Amino acid sequence: MKKNYSIKIPLKNNPYEVLIGENIINNSKKKIFSKIKSAKKIFIITDKKIKKFHYKKILNIIPKNFIIKSLIINPGEKMKKINTINIFLTFILKNKISRNDAIFALGGGVIGDISGFLASITLRGIKLIHFPTTLLAQVDSSIGGKTGVNSEYGKNLIGTFYQPNLVVCDTLFLKTLPKRELISGYAEVIKYGIIYDKKFFYWLNKNVNKLLNNSSTEISKSIKRSVEIKRDFILKDEKDLINKRAMLNFGHTFGHALEKYTNYSNNLLHGEAISIGMCMASNLSNILGFLSLNNYIKIKNIFLNFGLPTNLSYLKKIKIKKKQIVKNMVYDKKNLNGKINFVLCKDIGKVFIYNKIKKEFIEKSIS
Ligand SMILES: NC(=O)c1ccc[n+]([C@@H]2O[C@H](COP(=O)([O-])OP(=O)(O)OC[C@H]3O[C@@H](n4cnc5c(N)ncnc54)[C@H](O)[C@@H]3O)[C@@H](O)[C@H]2O)c1
Repeated sequence: MKKNYSIKIPLKNNPYEVLIGENIINNSKKKIFSKIKSAKKIFIITDKKIKKFHYKKILNIIPKNFIIKSLIINPGEKMKKINTINIFLTFILKNKISRNDAIFALGGGVIGDISGFLASITLRGIKLIHFPTTLLAQVDSSIGGKTGVNSEYGKNLIGTFYQPNLVVCDTLFLKTLPKRELISGYAEVIKYGIIYDKKFFYWLNKNVNKLLNNSSTEISKSIKRSVEIKRDFILKDEKDLINKRAMLNFGHTFGHALEKYTNYSNNLLHGEAISIGMCMASNLSNILGFLSLNNYIKIKNIFLNFGLPTNLSYLKKIKIKKKQIVKNMVYDKKNLNGKINFVLCKDIGKVFIYNKIKKEFIEKSIS
């Protein structure tokens, strides 16, 4: 029998659990519906691609007494915008949603972020259960309560903090995930090793083949450890106020700037952007004398081993203007008073925040 995990996120006001395992949606029906006891309606939010593969699995677990409504969008980051929220809000209010009703978010980070935002602003908060279907969503975006959409000024600039009632990570969902998306998700998994857990970093490096070949045991283990690490940061700083949770943004200042530069297109997935971003942040850490060359190379190599991009040569077709990338960084929401906050690395498993960096060094680290 394959091992299942339950990770508790014991936030004072909004404690919840993350369930992980193969076929866990069918094995956890009781728990899922115990979270929405008074609900009459369930609004399932998903995209057309995911609907084809997994929508029926969700329908099959919902007891007959619920009224089910579906909101289905085109896949892709471009849908993560305020206009989508407007359309969804109109739909659910028209369908007389009540405060006890629930949203089931079935999808990757895009669906999760949209659903979380919608759940948080509808009637000042309705029930929310995440069924993340990408690796990135299982290890990262479905946990921690950051919700939101993009603006023309940058990524995730409109949003709320809103914790779900439950997260159900079924590893069977990942079987239909395109390889490129799976690999992209490993960027966030590797990040957890770099920022917090050296042992996990080496374990990942040792198990690359099993992980990329979707071995259920190793995948579940890697999701479990990732969720535990994210939990530890969230518990210290739920609302990202005291620079503890910010460590999770290692590589993201560069990564978000690159995503903006490539117009959030399919040329660069989120995981790919932050993979390059983490290599740039490690390069910067090395240039500034915080990280040894040996560790910088180890970091680069783990991304290469997973088949992730490590520099801008990945964007062959796009003309790169370093100055524009630096400009994009200033718009990143993590930056205060125009100063760019960087998460730098001093050892594998150890990162810190630093913002006294001259622009020339930042430009030098972009390669
Ligand atoms: N809220 C947070 O804390 C947080 C953290 C990290 C990332 N994010 C956000 O997450 C988003 C990226 O999420 P993502 O990488 O999951 O991308 P995504 O949601 O765009 O999904 C990627 C693609 O995979 C398809 N897909 C999803 N599940 C599938 C499956 N099981 N089988 C086949 N195809 C499937 C989708 O249709 C889509 O085309 C970004 O918007 C990012 O900003 C949020």
